[in-house]
Amino acid sequence: MRVGVLTGGGDCPGLNAVIRAVVRKGVEVHGWEFVGFRNGWQGPLTGDSRPLGLADVEDILTRGGTILRSSRTNPYKVDGGVDQIRKVLADQEVDALIAIGGEDTLGVAKRLTDDGIGVVGVPKTIDNDLGATDYTFGFDTAVSIATEAIDRLHTTAESHHRALVIEVMGRHAGWIALHSGLAGGASVILVPERQFSVDQVVQWVEQRFEKEYAPIIVVAEGALPEGGEEKLLTGEKDAFGHVRLGGIGNWLADEISERTGKESRAVVLGHVQRGGTPTAYDRVLATRFGLQAVDAVADGDFGVMVALKGTDIVRVKLSEATAELKTVPLERYQEAEVFFG
Ligand code: F6P
Repeated sequence: MRVGVLTGGGDCPGLNAVIRAVVRKGVEVHGWEFVGFRNGWQGPLTGDSRPLGLADVEDILTRGGTILRSSRTNPYKVDGGVDQIRKVLADQEVDALIAIGGEDTLGVAKRLTDDGIGVVGVPKTIDNDLGATDYTFGFDTAVSIATEAIDRLHTTAESHHRALVIEVMGRHAGWIALHSGLAGGASVILVPERQFSVDQVVQWVEQRFEKEYAPIIVVAEGALPEGGEEKLLTGEKDAFGHVRLGGIGNWLADEISERTGKESRAVVLGHVQRGGTPTAYDRVLATRFGLQAVDAVADGDFGVMVALKGTDIVRVKLSEATAELKTVPLERYQEAEVFFG
């Protein structure tokens, strides 16, 4: 058996831990061979691959990023893309694929399975917004990094009596903002799921100053002011139709300065949240996902994604996995509101 492995979409701490677990179990338990396709779906489209043996996965457990590189290539946007993939898999004698990715990569995996190509999916996203799994690896790392940033911002904000706005990732889901904001004791948390009133934010900020504390406002990049529009860095769309968000943090800091007369600055955390070594939790989750993905391939159970339900790793249909995004429920957001202001 020869199995192809690829990583697609935005990178995420823990990708290498999945690759390592897949190769270790596949080779040592089943005697399989592996092919690493480079740059997401571009690899199987163009035949760009590398051997992936035991020696290649030594020392990668703790490494951030992905040794296979990544891209946001969509083979369904390429003329004859699926036939090209079929040909590459046949030429390289690959019997099955393990695709590690988020909603876009897994959406392609689902369509390829419908088109007769055997794919098992592994969920990844720092945003934790995939519906069919309780958690994705990478999220815990991103939250830890954002929390550390908030901890550091508290002391400098207090020294200067400033409001500091920290913009974190989260296009459609505010999980990183919610968890890091709660863990870091933020004065306000703003998420894409709930439009916010600037007047209300200003009120919370002023309350915080009155208590002799400097306010820290955590805002997800996709959060929207009431009646406002998403702040875009560029209107250009990627192959899956996503624009690049960014700018809400600076916009909000300016609004706060203007309305309160207090100095307010923004920090955009950006890709720092995605880089570097995964936390222990993410290494374990990524490893368990990799081991179970190998079991699914061994069972010939294609068109599934491995998922965390409680403490168990289960298999769910890729159609279910990509059906809807897991956004922050209103009641979870309301829990955090107790700490605002
Ligand atoms: O999907 C994960 C994510 O980190 C989003 O939160 C963010 O909007 C996006 O990736 C950024 O992607 P890129 O690195 O391609 O700019």
